[in-house]
Amino acid sequence: MKVTVVGAGAVGATCADNIARKELAEEVVLLDIKEGFAEGKSIDMMQTATLLGFDTKITGVTGDYSKTAGSGVVVITSGLPRKPGMTREELIGINAGIVKGVAENILKYSPDAIFIVISNPMDTMTYLALKSLGLPKNRIIGMGGTLDSSRFKYYLSQALSCNPNDLQGFVIGGHGDTTMIPLTRFATYQGLPVSELLDEETLQKVAADTMVGGATLTGLIGTSAWYAPGAAGAALVEAIVRDEKKLFTCCVALEGEYGQSDICLGVPVIIGRNGWELIVDFPLNDTEQAALNKSADAVRGMNKVLAEMNLI
Ligand code: 2OP
Repeated sequence: MKVTVVGAGAVGATCADNIARKELAEEVVLLDIKEGFAEGKSIDMMQTATLLGFDTKITGVTGDYSKTAGSGVVVITSGLPRKPGMTREELIGINAGIVKGVAENILKYSPDAIFIVISNPMDTMTYLALKSLGLPKNRIIGMGGTLDSSRFKYYLSQALSCNPNDLQGFVIGGHGDTTMIPLTRFATYQGLPVSELLDEETLQKVAADTMVGGATLTGLIGTSAWYAPGAAGAALVEAIVRDEKKLFTCCVALEGEYGQSDICLGVPVIIGRNGWELIVDFPLNDTEQAALNKSADAVRGMNKVLAEMNLI
């Protein structure tokens, strides 16, 4: 299969690197608008092939969408990253036009592609892709919750001094500092609820740290994080190309599920060859459902900007 990653910045390049190292595709096309940038990064990555022993071919292109033709999966990372002190939502004015243009250009050459959206504000960019491409809803996937759930398990592992791979846990809702909902009640250490191992105050701190996980890294690094966002994108590509039927939290179109409609929001889904194949209905309690409703209201408020910008 051919996979395209749009945007050769840190997130896109890391995503392409992960895809190549895992040999998830025969070819990865990395596209950027900055002259020579994607070519340079691709050549650098290709020069690791004999060191790492992968056979995936990575091709860098500047703005030439014809080179992406026939891609089965496309990962969109285009747009500006956040700067310290900035929210993801503040990026909408710049990123919305970019993401719409990218998605439409991709579709011309890859009519059967499954789209994974990483660009921020991710929930609104996913909704924009859904509305402007007119594709079946299962082919539009926002990455946010996959990353946030991984961060949640990292902070849990720190609190428990355990291996993060022994943990289950997921984050639903929006991919924003105040809209994401780490579901501490469902988190387990090898099946044992973490609430039996950690006191309420520690659990609340884990949830709070998770919610500002991206902002914390932006403050430390000076720009948006890339290793985990890129790896999260590649994990979704893997689940699609290998038809894994694995459960991830992703931002998908809701039509009544979890009490929400006309919105793309993070919920647990099964990812396989057809994109997201099923929404898994976890029974939320009243507090969790109220948090999800509030998160949806905030995301819906952001989505309104798309109409004001005449993008949908
Ligand atoms: C993050 O949370 C890039 O939104 C991404 O780091």
